[in-house]
Amino acid sequence: MNVDLKGRDLLKLLDYSKEEILYLISLAKVLKEKKKKHEPHAYLKGKNVVLLFEKDSTRTRCAFEVGAMDLGMGVTYLGPSGSQMGKKESIADTAQVLSRMYDGIEYRGFDQTIVEELARNASVPVWNGLTNEFHPTQMLADILTIQENFGEIRGRKLVFLGDARNNVACSLMVVCAKLGIHFVCCAPKELFPPASLVATCQEIAKEEGSSILLTENTSEGVKDADVIYTDVWVSMGEDASLWEKRIQLLKPYQVNEQVMSMAKPTAIFLHCLPSFHDTHTTIGKEIYDKFGLSEMEVTDAVFISKASKVMDQAENRLHTIKAVMYATLKDE
Ligand code: CP
Ligand code: NVA
Repeated sequence: MNVDLKGRDLLKLLDYSKEEILYLISLAKVLKEKKKKHEPHAYLKGKNVVLLFEKDSTRTRCAFEVGAMDLGMGVTYLGPSGSQMGKKESIADTAQVLSRMYDGIEYRGFDQTIVEELARNASVPVWNGLTNEFHPTQMLADILTIQENFGEIRGRKLVFLGDARNNVACSLMVVCAKLGIHFVCCAPKELFPPASLVATCQEIAKEEGSSILLTENTSEGVKDADVIYTDVWVSMGEDASLWEKRIQLLKPYQVNEQVMSMAKPTAIFLHCLPSFHDTHTTIGKEIYDKFGLSEMEVTDAVFISKASKVMDQAENRLHTIKAVMYATLKDE
């Protein structure tokens, strides 16, 4: 594949071609193999990256940190209260300052416009580690996991159940369209993805021979699915007062054993994580106390089932994020 991503930002997958996305996946596979064999791959020794997190993270932060360290780089983490950005210093000024010290900048936060503004003003690659609208690095791990389970990904059917207008669902629709995977979202109409993004993805899907279907009907949507995917019903940055309404709207879209039984017998379950599949979290416990619900977007039985590949998916965040940093920062 003749792909060169040196110096590129990764802000959303709409900006990347099918070939570029597949290149990152194949690079991630090579890096995963090296990691498994304990083969050193400190190809970016002497470089440094900075991670800006305005929202919490376990997987994304750790994947960037371990990925950078495996590549031989230095890493600085700046949390929600650790820098001047936004409060005393504009995004544009921050981008320029950080570009004088670092070779790459990761940003997790709120509006997509913020990461776009950072990228416009930075002279080094900027990577989107999740915004309200998109979560592009998550998609690379998801596709790698699907490929590891099925080999050929074209023509597969991925069904997302839940809050289909959130960052993960919208990004899945984009990546599926680009890679020729049939995408279905099962959700109440008011939580369908934005119409303009659906139209864009439908155009792309048409060229790739795949389809985009939005439905309120779970049995229609889930039939013959290869991948069942869900995410939390209230995302980071949304108001906690939304829980009651979301539970009411999304309870019929919970991924449970009945839903899994409507998919293909070989179907796998994916979730970007973190997940509310029991009451072993503060929020999970609060929801149980308030609404009597002990499992939300996915039942514990499905989460721990053989079909669940969520831990492979979580591990693949490391290999794919490492591939993004390597591809965009390598010297030649
Ligand atoms: N999936 C994901 O982005 O997880 P974190 O919020 O832990 O980074
Ligand atoms: N939709 C979730 C994804 C977390 C990885 C959120 O934004 O909180």
